[in-house]
Amino acid sequence: MSQDTLQEHTELRMIIKFNSAYGGRMPEPSSTMFAASLRGVSVDYAGIIAVDAVDLDVAAAALTVIVGANGAGKSTVLEVLAGARAPSTGTVTISGVARAFVPQRSVVSDRLPLTVRDVVTVGVWGRLGHFRRVSRHDRAVIDDALERLGITDLASLPFFSLSGGQRQRALLAQGLARGADLLLLDEPTTGLDAGSARLIRAAIAGQVRCGVAVVCVSHDERLISDADEVIRMSRGRLVKNTHAEDLDGPPRPRPADW
Ligand SMILES: Nc1ncnc2c1ncn2[C@@H]1O[C@H](COP(=O)(O)OP(=O)(O)OP(=O)(O)O)[C@@H](O)[C@H]1O
Ligand SMILES: [Mg+2]
Repeated sequence: MSQDTLQEHTELRMIIKFNSAYGGRMPEPSSTMFAASLRGVSVDYAGIIAVDAVDLDVAAAALTVIVGANGAGKSTVLEVLAGARAPSTGTVTISGVARAFVPQRSVVSDRLPLTVRDVVTVGVWGRLGHFRRVSRHDRAVIDDALERLGITDLASLPFFSLSGGQRQRALLAQGLARGADLLLLDEPTTGLDAGSARLIRAAIAGQVRCGVAVVCVSHDERLISDADEVIRMSRGRLVKNTHAEDLDGPPRPRPADW
């Protein structure tokens, strides 16, 4: 499948935007000690405050795990970090040059005749030259990403034929192939069998060792115990280094007079 054809499909916009050259690449690297920072970031969805005045510094070359109850605003924060969602207020600073984002739910349409390898190849588009040829080096990067996620044997299968867990691994392989310095993963091990979850945790640890800042939303206790920093969200707010469950709950409606 050609890149032009792929780009015509709206279902793939999100992945293409953040894991290819077109949207994921940052124009101007800045020099801070953090891979990303949020200041006073709020997101409201027509009156529901999903994220409420969040300040967050994402450490470089480290694993940050965001935890919290359903509806706490975790995915929304990750989307803001990815550039997939503009905050209603506040500022977002990204210090690296490339981000990769694997959302909570796959946005790849079942109707697309994409192989697993095609999906992973999207990750290297940012490095392709004028003729859009995948170089030998890029092929090696793709092979390595497939191998790390244990899906080499699935490479020629249609993406839509994969199970949910296999899809998640293919999308993470795409993120690895991108060579991003900020990797954003929304519940990367949720619903996976123990072996697949272990592969994903190992891939994440490998990325951190290579200097990548990885931010995961996760409920996976093992991933949480691997984290350099655990950040708890509650009702749209960020509560660092706490395990206070009693703060959790749905986001508050926005008062009419705001
Ligand atoms: N596109 C949207 N439109 C309206 N409301 C939304 C939208 N996306 C999220 N929300 C609301 O914003 C709040 C935060 O959602 P978010 O998906 O960020 O939570 P989460 O912490 O990731 O939850 P989960 O653990 O269930 O994935 C929720 O109340 C949700 O219903
Ligand atoms: Mg979520």
